[in-house]
Amino acid sequence: MTPLDMQLEATLAKRRKIAKIRRLVVNPEGTIDFSSNDFLGLAYSQLLRDEFLQELHSMKYILGSTGSRLLDGNSKYVEDLEHKIAQFHKAEAALIFNSGFDANSGLFSTLPQKGDIIIYDELVHASVHEGMRMSRASHRLPFKHSDIDDLKRILEKVVPMRDKNVFIAVETVYSMDGDVAPLQDIVDLLKYYWPHRDNGYLVVDEAHGTGVYGKHGRGVVNQLGLEKDVFARLHTFSKALASNGAVILGSKTLREYLINYARPLIYSTFMPYSSLALIKCAYSILGSGQTEPIQDHLKIIIQRFRDTIRLPVGTLLASSSPIQGVVLNGNEAVRALAGYLNRKGFIVKPICSPTVPKGQERVRICLHGHNTLEQVDSLVASINMFFDESDNPIVMSSENTIVASRL
Ligand SMILES: Cc1ncc(COP(=O)(O)O)c(C=O)c1O
Repeated sequence: MTPLDMQLEATLAKRRKIAKIRRLVVNPEGTIDFSSNDFLGLAYSQLLRDEFLQELHSMKYILGSTGSRLLDGNSKYVEDLEHKIAQFHKAEAALIFNSGFDANSGLFSTLPQKGDIIIYDELVHASVHEGMRMSRASHRLPFKHSDIDDLKRILEKVVPMRDKNVFIAVETVYSMDGDVAPLQDIVDLLKYYWPHRDNGYLVVDEAHGTGVYGKHGRGVVNQLGLEKDVFARLHTFSKALASNGAVILGSKTLREYLINYARPLIYSTFMPYSSLALIKCAYSILGSGQTEPIQDHLKIIIQRFRDTIRLPVGTLLASSSPIQGVVLNGNEAVRALAGYLNRKGFIVKPICSPTVPKGQERVRICLHGHNTLEQVDSLVASINMFFDESDNPIVMSSENTIVASRL
């Protein structure tokens, strides 16, 4: 071991001691997926697989793009695809990035001009924080999660700074809580403070809304008809579309600006053609309406899950989306519940602090188009049983919070 390895080891040892160590795990074969972001079940879809293979056969190039978009990585293939995606989501222009992380960090690091202000929901994704950290914004102000009054309180302070742009950053479906943002209320607030549409700009991350909400899965912004009220939208291909990469939707000017300034796009080799082909096929399936019955099935199983689960008060997150959460107090408690369910053949993951705030640790449960009602019933029965069993490894404290007692 080098001295540096020893330093790293000491840091890891501290994390292990406070039960915050992160580990890579491989899901065992034959288990039931209640964890992945494959909301529509497209990752195992024969339909998508067949379309993809057919598309690959018809293409001249399928391997590496051989360079950054700015050098040799660009192609008519990706520009046509961007055009189609912009039309699908009813946007003026689209720009594809290698990942949602790159897209958010590229957007938020470059969009705010010197001295501008970013107001963000306290639960926005790490990639937004990454971008904000590098940005030239003079103020980065969090508001309480989806709390319109708190947003209003902050806006009252910043609106008098008339010459600065103000960006409001939200997600449509929050990745760890699963709740849907009050987007219409936020838009109404923006219109109230900026009736002439100057200076106040909404930026919306649709990572978990893509494919699941709106006609043909166009997302929440489309479902609410708010395309014109949002300055920039992010859709990831990595969740419901069973692909990788992401797109930023906005004006043609925004697209050109990002091509000139977004470092993750400029200084990284663009994704291979095979990835673009997969994205194209996933969009073709969405556009054909073939995923609509899956969206309907999702609604049914979400309702069934929520109707049948019996949990201590305050434990089930309020969510109408495929992302559900059972909040327990402490990393050990969520690991205990997740481990119990894993042993019964269900893949669910404990989400520990610091990924979520301390005391808000949860078992994240994702419902999918490929989950049957029977599978949902059997998961719910196991969760209910865990709380019913007298010798389960967690106990309720007097404050009705759950703490790990023995593992
Ligand atoms: C809300 C949100 N935005 C962005 C990302 C990043 O997307 P990607 O996984 O494509 O990098 C994620 C991924 O977890 C996410 O949940």
